[in-house]
Amino acid sequence: MSSEFTFDPFLKGALPADFQWGYATAAPQIEGAWNADGKGLSIWDVFGHTPGKVKDGSTCDDACRSYDLYKADVARMKEYGVTAYRFSLSWSRIIPLGGADDPVNEAGIKFYNNLINELLANGITPFVTLFHWDTPQALEDRYGGMLNKEKYTPDFIRYARVCFERFGDRVKNWITYNEPGVYTLAGYAAGVHAPGRSSFRDRNEHGDSSTEPFTVAHTELVSHAYVCDMYKKEFQPTQKGTIMITLHGNWSEPYDETDPKDVEAAERAREFEIAWFADPLYGSGDYPASMRQQLGDRLPTFTEEEKRLVKGSSEFYGMNSYTSFFMQHRDGPADINDHKGNVIVHDKNKQGVERGIESDTPWLRTSPWGWAKLLRWIWGRYKTPIYITENGTTAKGEHDWKPKGPEDVLEDPHRIDFFRAYVGEVAKACQEGIIIKSYFGWTFTDNWEWAAGYTDRFGVTWVDFESEDKKRYAKRSAYFLKEYFGHLIRHD
Ligand code: BGC
Repeated sequence: MSSEFTFDPFLKGALPADFQWGYATAAPQIEGAWNADGKGLSIWDVFGHTPGKVKDGSTCDDACRSYDLYKADVARMKEYGVTAYRFSLSWSRIIPLGGADDPVNEAGIKFYNNLINELLANGITPFVTLFHWDTPQALEDRYGGMLNKEKYTPDFIRYARVCFERFGDRVKNWITYNEPGVYTLAGYAAGVHAPGRSSFRDRNEHGDSSTEPFTVAHTELVSHAYVCDMYKKEFQPTQKGTIMITLHGNWSEPYDETDPKDVEAAERAREFEIAWFADPLYGSGDYPASMRQQLGDRLPTFTEEEKRLVKGSSEFYGMNSYTSFFMQHRDGPADINDHKGNVIVHDKNKQGVERGIESDTPWLRTSPWGWAKLLRWIWGRYKTPIYITENGTTAKGEHDWKPKGPEDVLEDPHRIDFFRAYVGEVAKACQEGIIIKSYFGWTFTDNWEWAAGYTDRFGVTWVDFESEDKKRYAKRSAYFLKEYFGHLIRHD
C-alpha cells in the first residue's frame, strides 16, 4: 500500500508484536443519556447543571451520544485500525445510588455488556476504567463522597465487585482510578471541577484547599488498594486479568538548570505531582519526604495495613501525560493552599526557550522533549512496566470547520506532528529497553471536555455537536496513527 506519510526507518519494528494501541474515552464525556434507563445522577451531571460552572454553559446530557451510537463507533475504531479501546464505566449507570446496599440497574449492565461484546466481536481488546471522576451524586449527598474514607471505601469495593462479576469473564485489563490527582486537585484544591470545593469563596461555597485534596487522594489510594486485593484474591485466579491505576503527570524541567535550587524545585514538583501517588504504590511505600516536610500532618498517614495493601497493588504503571513546564524555586514558606511544592511555573526557561508550540488549550503545548525525560524518570524510579493510557492534543481552528460532505476529512497537521513526536519517543524508549505495553491516544472523538464544555476538541474524529445525531467525521491524524503503528509494531 502506498502511503502519503513517511516514517523514520530506524523506528521500524521498535514496538513489540503484542503492543496494544487505540483511543481512550470517559463515560461522562461521551455517553450522553444522562438520565436514561434508570441511570442515577453523577456529580458531573449536577455540576454541569449549575450555572456558571462550565465555560460554554453546556452540560453532558447528550455529549456524543455514544450510549446510542456505540455500534457505529466500534465500526469506526475498527476502520482506524486500533487493537484496543480504553473506556470508563459510569458507576451511577450501574448502581444509580452508588452504595453497597443499593440496587443494581440491569439496563446499565446490559449497555456495557453490549459494548464489550461488540468490541470483542471486532477484535478490539477492552481496557476498562472503573472510575473516571463521576462519583454518584447520592454518595456525595450521603456522606461527602471521598472525604469520608470509612463510608466510601465499602461502596467502591462493592461497585468494583459488581463490575468484576458481570464483565470480568471478558474484560482482562482493569484500571481502578483515572488520575486520582486531577480528580482531587481540580475538584478540591482549585474547585473548578465537580464536586466544586475549595477555600476560595468567590468560587466555591464549601471546602478547604489546604487539607481536602490530601484527604481525598488518600481515600483514592486506599480504596484502590482494597479493590486490587479483592480482585487478586477472588477474581484473578479464574478470570486471569490484570489490574492497575492510571496516574497523571506532566514533566517539570528546571527554569534555570544551572541553579541547584531550581533543579531541586523541579524534582520537588515531580514528587508533588507524581510521586504523591506513585511512591506509595511502586516506590518507598509512603508519601515523599518533600511533601511531608511542607505539609506536615495535613498529609494523612497510612496505617500499617494500608501501607502493605497499597504497595504493589497496581500491577503496571498506568500513565497519562500531555505536556511540560519550567519550574523555578520560590523563596520563603509555601502558601497554605500550595500543592505544587512551592514553585513558580513558567512557559519559558531562563534562556527564553518556550516549552512547546501552542495548542488550542492554554496549558497544553507540544513538548516531546519533556515526555521523553518523563518516560525515563518513571522507569528509573519505579521499574514497573508502563501502559500509556492517555496522550493527545487539541489543535487551533477546528471549531469553525465545515465538512463539505459526509466523507470529508479534517486536515490536522498540528495533531499529526504531536503524535509523530510523542509516539516516536515511545518507540525510542522501547529500543532502549524501557518496557512500554500500550499507547492510547486522547481521544477517539471530540467530546465534552469537563469544565471547558465543548470548547476543547481533542478527538481524532470531528463531531458536529449541532447535529441531532452528533455526526462524526474523521480527522487525518486517525489515518496517520494507523499507518504509524503499522510501521512501529513488529510483525512476528
Ligand atoms: C483526563 C481526560 C481529559 C484530558 C484532557 C485528562 O486529564 O483524564 O478526561 O479530557 O486530560 O484534558
